[in-house]
Amino acid sequence: MKKESEAVMEKETKQVEAPVRKTIPIQYPYMNEQSIQNVMIKQQLKIPFPVTVNSGTAAVHLALDIAGVGPGDEVITTSLTCAATNHAILMQYAKPVFADVQYDTGNIDPEDIEHRITPKTKAVLVVHWAGYPCDMDEINAIAKKHNLPVIEDAAHAMGASYKGKPMGTISDFTCFSLQAIKHITTGDGGILCTNNIQDYQKGIRRRWFGIDRNHRIPSVLGHADYDIVERGFKYHMNDIAAAIGLAQLPDLPNTGRSLRTFRESR
Ligand SMILES: Cc1ncc(COP(=O)(O)O)c(C=O)c1O
Repeated sequence: MKKESEAVMEKETKQVEAPVRKTIPIQYPYMNEQSIQNVMIKQQLKIPFPVTVNSGTAAVHLALDIAGVGPGDEVITTSLTCAATNHAILMQYAKPVFADVQYDTGNIDPEDIEHRITPKTKAVLVVHWAGYPCDMDEINAIAKKHNLPVIEDAAHAMGASYKGKPMGTISDFTCFSLQAIKHITTGDGGILCTNNIQDYQKGIRRRWFGIDRNHRIPSVLGHADYDIVERGFKYHMNDIAAAIGLAQLPDLPNTGRSLRTFRESR
C-alpha cells in the first residue's frame, strides 16, 4: 500500500513538471478535452461528457445553473451533507427544501421527495452519503414524472457504481469533488458530468466566463479572439491541479479497493 502510494506520488511529481516549466504555468491547455476528459476519464470511468472544474462546490453550482435553477425556485435536497451542497442552491438565490433521509443509509428518501414537489420545484439534488449510492431508479422515475432534472452530488462516490452503472452516467448531472481528502485529489478540484452535448458545452463555457476556449478564433493581430455569449464563472481547473489528477486517475480502482478493505476491517 505504502509502495503503491509512493509510486503514484512519484508519477504526480513528474507529471506536474510539464505545466510548471511552461512560461504561463497555470493556464488551460494542459487540461484539455484530449487529456483528462477524453483519454483518462472516458476509459477509466466511462463518463461521456465530463467538465473539469476547480472544486466539487463549483460542479454543483454549475449543474444548478445549467439546470436553470434561479431566484425563488425550490430545489429538493438533503440536510445530511456537507454545507457545500446547499450553499450552491443559495448561490442561485433558490430555496433548499429538505426531504427526509433513510435511517439505514443516510441517503435521501425517494418517497419523501415526491411529497415535497410544488409548482416552484426546479430540480432534485441528491447526495450519495459516504459513497453509498442513493435509490437512483426511484429518484429518476419521480423526477421524470414531474419533468425535473436530477443532480447527483457524488463528492463521496467517485468510482462507485449503481446497478452496474458507474457514477457519472446515471442522471442529468453528477458532481465529483477532487478536494484534499477525496479518492482522487488535485488539492482542490471537481468534475461535472453531464449527459448530453448541449449541457456539456454550456459547462465548458460557463466554467470560464462564458468563453469556449476550445473554439477561439485567431484575430487579425494574431492572438486568439473570443466571443462572450453568456455569463459564466471562474471555475476551470488549472494545469497544475490537472497534472496531479491525471497522474492519480489510473490508481482510482486501487483507492476504491483500499477503502473497501479498510471499511470491512472495522
Ligand atoms: C457531499 C459533499 N458535497 C460537496 C462537497 C464540496 O466539494 P469541494 O470541497 O471540492 O468543493 C463536499 C466536500 O467535502 C462534500 O462532502
